[in-house]
Amino acid sequence: MSCRNIRTIGDELLRKKSRPVEEINERILELLDDMAETMYQSGGVGLAAPQVGVLRRIAVIDVGKEFGDGLLELINPEIIAASGEQTDAEGCLSVPEYIGTVTRPLTVTVRAQNRNSETYEKTVSGFFARAVCHELDHLDGVLFVDHAVEIQKREEE
Ligand code: NI
Repeated sequence: MSCRNIRTIGDELLRKKSRPVEEINERILELLDDMAETMYQSGGVGLAAPQVGVLRRIAVIDVGKEFGDGLLELINPEIIAASGEQTDAEGCLSVPEYIGTVTRPLTVTVRAQNRNSETYEKTVSGFFARAVCHELDHLDGVLFVDHAVEIQKREEE
């Protein structure tokens, strides 16, 4: 397992549409492991493959114990149901200096494959739903700044 470099806004690759994964092979499993490692090392709650330079429809999410239940791996994810609305602050490892206020569905059902090529569906709400929407946007070249109603520079720590 190793950390990969995270691409940041301005990098053209972040704006491209990712292709579906056709076969979950060793390379994909290694990518999943590296993405999780990169996300945890960077203190993020989600990471999409384009952020590490790979244009494949893959994301990892771990919103922590308060909101979720550990690492979620999503291969070829799609949102199959969405309801409600929430407006809250959102950040991104690829947009390190800014935080935006973004409106997202309150609840979403996502369908994806896991690393064993099994298709699953998961319904999540609140912060978890926000993370799912945010990561799926990355797979279509969309960043939160594209639909933020307000963007603020992060305070220096
Ligand atoms: Ni992001």
